Amino acid sequence: MDVEGKIIVITGAAGGIGEALAERFKSAGAKHLVIADLNLDGASAVAERVGGTAMRADVGQESDVKALVEATERDVGAIDLFCSNAGIATADNLAAPNDEWQLIWDVNVMAHVYAARHVVPLMVKRGGGYLLNTCSAAGLLNQIGGAAYGVTKHAAVGLGEWIAMTYAHQGIRVSLLCPQAVRTAMTSGEAMDNAGVAAAAADGMMEPATLAESVIEGLRDERFLILPHAEVATYMTRKSADYDRWIRGMNRFHQSIYADQSG
Ligand SMILES: NC(=O)c1ccc[n+]([C@@H]2O[C@H](COP(=O)([O-])OP(=O)(O)OC[C@H]3O[C@@H](n4cnc5c(N)ncnc54)[C@H](O)[C@@H]3O)[C@@H](O)[C@H]2O)c1
Repeated sequence: MDVEGKIIVITGAAGGIGEALAERFKSAGAKHLVIADLNLDGASAVAERVGGTAMRADVGQESDVKALVEATERDVGAIDLFCSNAGIATADNLAAPNDEWQLIWDVNVMAHVYAARHVVPLMVKRGGGYLLNTCSAAGLLNQIGGAAYGVTKHAAVGLGEWIAMTYAHQGIRVSLLCPQAVRTAMTSGEAMDNAGVAAAAADGMMEPATLAESVIEGLRDERFLILPHAEVATYMTRKSADYDRWIRGMNRFHQSIYADQSG
């Protein structure tokens, strides 16, 4: 898909990766961008810069996602590309309270279900459409120091696979964006614990604008997995070639990260 001339919704677009996607899609000639976020002030500032429309939506609430799809289709036009991008990092470990696990499940997994539930039937009716779901390399390789983050991102990858294999013949294309560390509020040390950030950034911290460039390429090639950090493909190969060896290696990595953090 070439984003030129397309109507695009991006959730979690008040900052970070979503904001960078909005700016890059605008410069690539997108027709109209809907900037959705919990943070309406932030979304409005981005929308103003890209000449788009800001909408407040809590993606963990189905009614908000439904309203976002309906308002866009009614007031802007048929959605060509829905970028389900908002995500959070909570519930780092087994002791984290159930309500933290539920919140991250709602935001990192159910939000993709809600988006697909409300937009896919419309896209199928008109012959096709595109979903870009921001997952993470953590959805393929797990997350040191981030129990629920790794779990929910795996679930998001599983959902994306299911949507793609179920609807491909009806014109629904799906890409899953699976980066390692990107320089945003999430990796600033406040959202995710320092060990988690250190592990995710072992191969370096990518700038959001660099990531947006690889999204443009991945969408153009209609690749299912968009891997801005090329190493992730190698790590996946190693994981599937010898799962036990991979677990041992990840445990050593875990121990070295936590030894560094306490030292
Ligand atoms: N930054 C990274 O290193 C990295 C790596 C891999 C994947 N990701 C994923 O990329 C996506 C974007 O993350 P980011 O790094 O830009 O984070 P960020 O914290 O900079 O931005 C996330 C945005 O989502 C919004 N948001 C949070 N909860 C929401 C909700 N319930 N409803 C609507 N909006 C909500 C926030 O207000 C914020 O504007 C997330 O899914 C994240 O898991 C990030």
